[in-house]
Amino acid sequence: MRYLIISDLHGNLEAFRAVLAHAARKRRDAVLFLGDAVGYGAAPNQVIERLRAMGHKVVSVRGNHDRVVLDPEEGSVFFNAHARRAAFWTAEVLTPANRRFLENLPVGPKVIEDGVAICHGSPADEDEYLFSEMEAQAAFRSLPASVTFFGHSHVPCMFELTTDGGNESLVGVLLRGSRVVIDLDPARRYLINPGSVGQPRDRDPRASYAVYDSAIRRFTLHRVAYNVEAARKRILSAGLPAILADRLVHGS
Ligand SMILES: [Fe+2]
Repeated sequence: MRYLIISDLHGNLEAFRAVLAHAARKRRDAVLFLGDAVGYGAAPNQVIERLRAMGHKVVSVRGNHDRVVLDPEEGSVFFNAHARRAAFWTAEVLTPANRRFLENLPVGPKVIEDGVAICHGSPADEDEYLFSEMEAQAAFRSLPASVTFFGHSHVPCMFELTTDGGNESLVGVLLRGSRVVIDLDPARRYLINPGSVGQPRDRDPRASYAVYDSAIRRFTLHRVAYNVEAARKRILSAGLPAILADRLVHGS
């Protein structure tokens, strides 16, 4: 199976459009969406409508922002002030149909096929960040899949676990570049983040997404330039905090 993998769209229509255009000619059997359709960005309805238009070919898990906008009073306690403000704003502008879409997103992790799974934060907790090898080690233990795709940190990266008899080695690497191709070793296990479509945080402002071909175990990360200025202006026009607009310029 060939999968298009998208994560952390965060209401950024310009970035999502650019990714869909870039991926349009790539053959795919299904789309894997790792959560956070909304939050931060100023086009939550348009982004959800694009996802809905892709129909049953999208296999999704819920992100923490997708959950919080359904009840921002309760849910945004642990958000910073800007994220909280965006969550309240999003809750206000969501159409009833798009709200239902968020309500129906399943909680991860989700097994997609034998040996391939998806989740938002970590397999055990959609709110947990996987930044370090220590965190990845616990994540490998909580889910037996050979390859798990995760989001939430907005940083394209890969953790690779090698087991040799009783010994284990675990290496984490950042994935940098316009197109990064990795052939996964069938004897090893992987946790891979395809980066964020709508709010990259690795100092590369380009939208990030990936393609995975499970038949040959080939993962390809793509970075796509998009109209950052339009996304930025949309956030400012909505009256959302300027920091949410400006960080798109820096990819931070
Ligand atoms: Fe996110």
